[in-house]
Amino acid sequence: MDLRLPHESELNVLRCLCMRKQRTLFRVGARHVSFILTAIVLATPVAAQKIELSVDVSKSGAKIDRNIFGQFAEHLGHGIYDGIWVGPDSTIPNTRGIRNDVVAALKAIKVPNVRWPGGCFADEYHWRNGVGPQRAVTLNPNWGGVIEPNAFGTHEFMDFLDQIGAEAYVSVNVGAGTPREAAEWLEYMTTAQPTTLAKERGASGHPGPYKVGYLGIGNESWDCGGNMTPDYYLSQLKIYSRFVRNYNPAQQDKEQMLRIAVGPGGGEPRWTEWTDTIMKAYQQHTWSWDMNGLSMHSYTVGHWPPSYKSVGFGDAEYSQILKFTLDMEDLIHKHSAIMDKYDPEKKVALVVDEWGAWYAPLPGSNPGFLVQQNSVRDAILAALNLNIFARHADRVRMANIAQMINVLQSMIMTDKEKMVLTPTYYVFKMYVPFQDATFVPVSFDAGTYTSGDASLPRIDAIAAKDTTGKLWLEITNVDPNQPADVEVNLAGISAKSVSGQTLTAPKVDSVNTFDIPNSVVPKPISAKVQAGKILLKLEPKSVNVISFE
Ligand code: AHR
Repeated sequence: MDLRLPHESELNVLRCLCMRKQRTLFRVGARHVSFILTAIVLATPVAAQKIELSVDVSKSGAKIDRNIFGQFAEHLGHGIYDGIWVGPDSTIPNTRGIRNDVVAALKAIKVPNVRWPGGCFADEYHWRNGVGPQRAVTLNPNWGGVIEPNAFGTHEFMDFLDQIGAEAYVSVNVGAGTPREAAEWLEYMTTAQPTTLAKERGASGHPGPYKVGYLGIGNESWDCGGNMTPDYYLSQLKIYSRFVRNYNPAQQDKEQMLRIAVGPGGGEPRWTEWTDTIMKAYQQHTWSWDMNGLSMHSYTVGHWPPSYKSVGFGDAEYSQILKFTLDMEDLIHKHSAIMDKYDPEKKVALVVDEWGAWYAPLPGSNPGFLVQQNSVRDAILAALNLNIFARHADRVRMANIAQMINVLQSMIMTDKEKMVLTPTYYVFKMYVPFQDATFVPVSFDAGTYTSGDASLPRIDAIAAKDTTGKLWLEITNVDPNQPADVEVNLAGISAKSVSGQTLTAPKVDSVNTFDIPNSVVPKPISAKVQAGKILLKLEPKSVNVISFE
């Protein structure tokens, strides 16, 4: 994978009409129709129109980098401790302290990279506390002020990555650390030379160098990472970029470590100014510093502090949250435009390394642990965001959902020996064929789903050719009540058969629990080929992935 070298950029030209174009299916005006008639019409479900969708396989766009399916694991609540790490003496089945059930589940979704150790935690993390036989016991002031045992440190993280088959995205401490501390950490992890730090690494069980694919230089340095101005951060970026080196001999040529700078956290002027400052400097950068990615954080929260419930809500909250999540499109558009100004060749990736739903903490949980449920709404939300990233694949070449286990919009929830896979997990599983696939434009008129003040595209869709040339199509039916009849017209291939999976459940807030873990799981989809067209009936509020033979 190469964050720096995009494929052709014209791919998105034929991008679907859905995000910006919205069409109301029926209108009942009180001025023109009597009250009684209005009431009857509103009470009668109106058959939704068939949606026609066209895919021309001869046209193709950018590679959908597998790194957009990246994960984020912070020392926060039960994200690491209990979620990944139980320790070698635990009765929970583990390999060198790392849960076997969690590893097996993550392997199945082919996690490309994991961002660690934070988040806000990263800017107060001192790596030396997490290596060697005697670990310092410290505090986690950001997240509940709890004890941080440092039992899960560099070696445990790398072992975990090895077990799940993912690459390391390490965020170094710019806020409360020093360039020297970060430089020594990288030397510890990556040098093959017999330095004192390398010998120490060997004594801890890993004589060979580790691979560090991605280096995050700070986290939200405009806020929890030190409240820096764009110019102040830029000075730090140059220093860390210069001195925090990767020495791994295998990473000096093709697999060079990619440096990711702190970027914006929204669309307001302070964020556009931030992006402008960093990208302008990048355009003028000299040999002595470089960057390959600009981070962007955007949560679907509604309003701060997070107050939307993660379970026990209805159609109104379903639609409002999904409406908020579609802001990701404008945000990417806005910051990509600034990046294009200074980097028209798209060498610098936009790295959405914190995204997902952020709801009110579950009642009874520690508010500092960011525990929330994960419902059908989150499955739809995940699909909509992944589709936005795919449509911007020429610039968005990496993303990390927040967070992997037990925190915010997680893949997995654990409780002691129990584990449950969330609806979001299943979306990531269904999207595996899109990893490193080539974007294929899809055109359709999405129609509109309206609930209260929120109007949303009724459907969303992306298509891509995988590395074997097989065509995959994802269609999300956003409407929580109406099925969608979809007719797919394929140009460039003639499909003989179609198969796929659908993910939905009876209610907008259906969840998987430890007791009932299979309420929201993928099932085979009903689809047929007729006169060269593909006919599908999509369940309300469903994520659907199909492929063609
Ligand atoms: O994901 C939780 C927190 O959200 C992260 O620590 C921080 O970077 C962001 O504000």
